[in-house]
Amino acid sequence: MTTIGAKQVSGKKAFEILSKLTLDEKFQLLTSPGFRRIYVTKPIKRLRIPSFRTTDGPLGVAYHSSGFKKCTRFPATISVASTWNRGLARAMGVAMAEEVRAVGRHMLLAPGINIARTPLNGRTFEYFSEDPYLTKELAIPFVQGVQSVGIGACVKHYAANNQEIDRRSCNAIIAERPLHEIYLRAFREVVKEADPWAIMGCYNKVNGVYGCENKYLIKDILMDRWGFKGFVMSDWFATRPIETTEGCINGGLSLEMPIPSKYKRKRLQRSLKDGKFSVESLDDLVYRFLRVLLMAQSFEQQSGSRNSSEHQNLARIIAEEGMVLLKNHGNLLPLSLDEIDSIALVGRNLKKKFGGFLYGGSSAVKPPYEITPLEGLKEKLKGKVKILSNVSKADIAIVFAGLNHNKGEDSEASDRAKLELPTEQVELITTTAANNPNTVVVLIAGSPIAMREWINKVPVVLDAWYPGMEGGRAIANVLFGDAEPSGRLPITFPKKLSDSPAHSSRERRHYPGDDEKNVFYDEGVFIGYRWFDEKEIEPLFPFGFGLSYTGFEYENVLISKESASANDDSLEIQLDVINIGDRPGADTIQVYSRDIQSSIVRPPQELVGFEKVFLKPNERKTISIQVRARDLAFYDVESHDWKVEQGEFQLKIGRSSRDIKMKTSILFD
Ligand code: BGC
Repeated sequence: MTTIGAKQVSGKKAFEILSKLTLDEKFQLLTSPGFRRIYVTKPIKRLRIPSFRTTDGPLGVAYHSSGFKKCTRFPATISVASTWNRGLARAMGVAMAEEVRAVGRHMLLAPGINIARTPLNGRTFEYFSEDPYLTKELAIPFVQGVQSVGIGACVKHYAANNQEIDRRSCNAIIAERPLHEIYLRAFREVVKEADPWAIMGCYNKVNGVYGCENKYLIKDILMDRWGFKGFVMSDWFATRPIETTEGCINGGLSLEMPIPSKYKRKRLQRSLKDGKFSVESLDDLVYRFLRVLLMAQSFEQQSGSRNSSEHQNLARIIAEEGMVLLKNHGNLLPLSLDEIDSIALVGRNLKKKFGGFLYGGSSAVKPPYEITPLEGLKEKLKGKVKILSNVSKADIAIVFAGLNHNKGEDSEASDRAKLELPTEQVELITTTAANNPNTVVVLIAGSPIAMREWINKVPVVLDAWYPGMEGGRAIANVLFGDAEPSGRLPITFPKKLSDSPAHSSRERRHYPGDDEKNVFYDEGVFIGYRWFDEKEIEPLFPFGFGLSYTGFEYENVLISKESASANDDSLEIQLDVINIGDRPGADTIQVYSRDIQSSIVRPPQELVGFEKVFLKPNERKTISIQVRARDLAFYDVESHDWKVEQGEFQLKIGRSSRDIKMKTSILFD
């Protein structure tokens, strides 16, 4: 049965069940049975309504919310984002959903699609990008993949949960245009294109109102304007600071998780009796939930699978494709087993395993095994190359540097303490480089790193992100050229923190918030590369950047039309991509637009299309990149709607936001 079919059937049935429920039963459906079962809802035995069962989260099926089951640990979301591969995002969604099914749950609490406003956000690794277009282009297939298996996706955290410091109390103050154009855009597109079963409300306030009672965000925008058909659930304990029950009901919150507080029976009864909310509002929230529950039930007979070799292979492929080669001076990589006799391996992430119980927060997946870099390399070297600890004696030295999931690094509920690596790692990199000119730095981390003290001292930097349970193998494959690094940065790497928009002034009001915990998003729409371009700041590595082991050239650019209708038309850019090297490789061709005749101030360029292409040595392929008018739109505060302006747009085709190879233009009428 398709998802669409199931929805049509369950809509009617949901109404029927709703009409049979007593008021008390409706109340019971709005939350969990209590502290012992915090990822499921309360069943109603009389009507055979079962518990609806959810599980975290974006890196796979989490251990703590699956009855302590070990599952495939996939690479972090930022690694998937770095693949710029829609097909892989979908495949990952399918695989995760099969694992959700295998642990007997109905819904995956993923993906997280918040936008990277600050590189210090402790959960950057769980999110896709600083760019809403890239985020939605990958989140849409991910959600579609999950739901194609009959498992629900719960898209989180709606909205503007952009920092972990004071996440339960801060107030993101955002003007209407950046709110829609940057922070809501990916949610809107995912709702419209992928029809997610649920959305999770955030902890923080947005413009003075907590996410889980924010009527503007939930009822007015998500439901009424975008036509969202699913239900909204709270983030865990996000309703605690909210004052009233009716705030949540009238706001549009169906499920209060993980335990009843505002949705305690007595509070609901009193609030209803006092006329603070209507039965119709309550019914709408219950109906939304019931419809999804029935949909989930209709798929329950399908079987799932977990820890299959397919899922583990997929985890490895994503890790390989997501790795970003940031520097490769003198083409030191790929290494060759035939050309080196010895290799020195050092660094705190060399033997590190990342999958543990709640390690890093709710995204923690405990896999049945995890290949560390040391294990992956031992497997690769097959005893043919000696592993030394003395870096000066080895042909090559590899430092496995980066972060971990402890507080102050990449972790939920706290932000990073700084943009640099911990001091002892900087020292290790610099002393290693001083003792061995062939020093390779492999970063295992989930967010941008400043490298001022050491980048010029080492010939090679490879960012592996958090590569999941097959990570060590994936890293060894990329280092030795059995897999090509084809990742492109989904986030700008600043040279220093103060180059980044939220940190451009020392004022706390921009980050992490003033004394009242108000965080002013004064930079407006200028987030990520939009800021670096506008302010002409040279990043350490720009958005979209990533090297390959081979080279590419573009030829014969054609645009399908010279003029188009602003009314959601689309156009195609066709070009030949040629692999000019003697190795296979993948390139991601990116299209950025510039609104030449804009009536308002717009970013100098914005990503509006991309395509990834795989080429054999010397192969040429003609590819076409679709650009949709709606992706060139801005949010117009006069009409409170999106608008594509008439006039000329420049379309820039390049290998990164700072490496534009060709330009063309289109006229909108
Ligand atoms: C996180 C959510 C997660 C929830 C349930 C919260 O702390 O913010 O992302 O889904 O816990 O574990």
